[in-house]
Amino acid sequence: MILLDHVTKQYPVDAHPALDNISLHISPNEFVFLVGESGAGKSTLLKMITKEESPDTGKIVIGGIDLDYVKKRHIPHYRRRLGVVFQDFKLLPMRTVYENVAFALEIAGMSNREIERTVPTVLNLVGLDEEAYKFPNELSGGQAQRVSIARSVARQPKILIADEPTGNLDPHTGQEIVDLLKKINDYGTTVLVTTHDAEVVNRLKKRVITLKDGKIVSDQKERGIYRLDSNNDGINLQRPGHKLTKEEIARLAQMHKAAPAPAAPAAPAPKARTTKTTKSTKPATRTTVKKKPLNTPGRSVI
Ligand SMILES: Nc1ncnc2c1ncn2[C@@H]1O[C@H](COP(=O)(O)OP(=O)(O)OP(=O)(O)O)[C@@H](O)[C@H]1O
Ligand SMILES: [Mg+2]
Repeated sequence: MILLDHVTKQYPVDAHPALDNISLHISPNEFVFLVGESGAGKSTLLKMITKEESPDTGKIVIGGIDLDYVKKRHIPHYRRRLGVVFQDFKLLPMRTVYENVAFALEIAGMSNREIERTVPTVLNLVGLDEEAYKFPNELSGGQAQRVSIARSVARQPKILIADEPTGNLDPHTGQEIVDLLKKINDYGTTVLVTTHDAEVVNRLKKRVITLKDGKIVSDQKERGIYRLDSNNDGINLQRPGHKLTKEEIARLAQMHKAAPAPAAPAAPAPKARTTKTTKSTKPATRTTVKKKPLNTPGRSVI
């Protein structure tokens, strides 16, 4: 569950707020496109969720966690509960596809045995079994984005956030990437995607939220189409003067916890090469992190 209640964010140098009194509720397992002109506030809204930025006013509750109570030292821990995908992939150039995914799992505190089991499954999910031992510079843009998605979903986040994941891809590859995000959503992950790609949005017919000048001007709950302006058929969650009570927040958080966990994808048979190169999953420098996840009600699945 993603809940923003009257969130405003003003960057110091800007004349207008990047987010202007935004209220928004996204249920578990929803697939949502966030659209709007350049500068509308899409990335800023995602940064509120990842806690890269904090709101000036308003409340944000993500997966039952009130972000007001996530202390600075717990932010990396909190972020590991989310899957985040970027336009420019952000892969580790000196590591293979397999190692890029394995490294993310190691950072998250997963045992080597679990990593060896998980990485082939996730690479199969994103259609990259054949590319496991390639380096990022040997991949196409679409393949690189698949690695980035594999890395994000390997930890089985409940929420996947993608900021213009198709921005650097040709239209056909972009469609394939969105189809993959849809598949991940079908396994039970809430997906929130920003895009400027009207075709991608119109083909999927999912919920579409339009931002304009930091405000939600349209929220098409079902069968949404790409639009940059307001419309009359959307549901406006901005109720002036209404602040969510603690009870309402708790109830929404509870709804999220009670969401049924769908089945994980079947694991493909491990390949001989996998075992052979197992050791390469260990990076030269290990990062020590606590294994216990923050406020986790139970392991979720993709
Ligand atoms: N770090 C920052 N410092 C100052 N202003 C910022 C910062 N980040 C964003 N802004 C401003 O906030 C507003 C919203 O920016 P944001 O990046 O959220 O837009 P966007 O909808 O993601 O645009 P695009 O489609 O171009 O990615 C813009 O006016 C932008 O200039
Ligand atoms: Mg942006």
